[in-house]
Amino acid sequence: MPDVPPEFIRAHTRPVRPELVPEVELLIAADVVALWEAMETEQGRTSTDPPFWAAAWPGGQALARYVLDHPELVAGRSVLDLGAGSGLVAVAAVQAGASSVLASDVDPFALAAIGVNAERNGTPGITPTGDVLGGEPPDVAVILAGDVCYDREMTDRVLPFLEAARARGAEVLIGDPGRIYLPEDRLSALATYEVPDTEPSPTHPTTIRRTTVWRLP
Ligand SMILES: C[S@@+](CC[C@H](N)C(=O)[O-])C[C@H]1O[C@@H](n2cnc3c(N)ncnc32)[C@H](O)[C@@H]1O
Repeated sequence: MPDVPPEFIRAHTRPVRPELVPEVELLIAADVVALWEAMETEQGRTSTDPPFWAAAWPGGQALARYVLDHPELVAGRSVLDLGAGSGLVAVAAVQAGASSVLASDVDPFALAAIGVNAERNGTPGITPTGDVLGGEPPDVAVILAGDVCYDREMTDRVLPFLEAARARGAEVLIGDPGRIYLPEDRLSALATYEVPDTEPSPTHPTTIRRTTVWRLP
């Protein structure tokens, strides 16, 4: 699929500062159904995957908050944001002083959104990149993975990759809102947050997700 133009991202999203991470302004979906339709009619995308990139997921929000509150984790270091989506965690990592960030996602819309959101936040040094799970982990000091254990298939690919990176000396943090696939007994909890949804509606109360930042020991 050809690159997604940044104008498409800007035209179908609205700026939001996630409540837990007001330092970052993200373009996220104004109307997910309309966005999904436009992805097909304007960009010819026929995938059944919803636009994951057009939201700030609880795991990403928690991880971004943790990194901003503990800048020593990433300051002056190279970072991989795995399953970057909107680029929220990548932007927070640069704000916290990361020297460079590889922002990996399989979705070409996400790769466009990462670039647009990086520019919007004035955070240079973020390189959107495709799937890295098939090979050796890239040579980075820190891996940040926000909400990547959302289904069994993804979890089965992600965990061996993260464990291999940890064995090579990378610091590995995962932000997760209690998904059943994550083997919590193999992880150490660093912090827990009550994370409000990014899309409160006038008719439904804001959903709060208890979300933990985990470290691979
Ligand atoms: C639930 S979203 C989380 C997005 C972001 N980290 C956040 O917390 O807001 C998961 C993301 O993982 C991406 N993804 C799925 N398979 C992937 C893979 N093999 N490599 C990188 N990203 C992948 C999806 O496209 C999606 O953007």
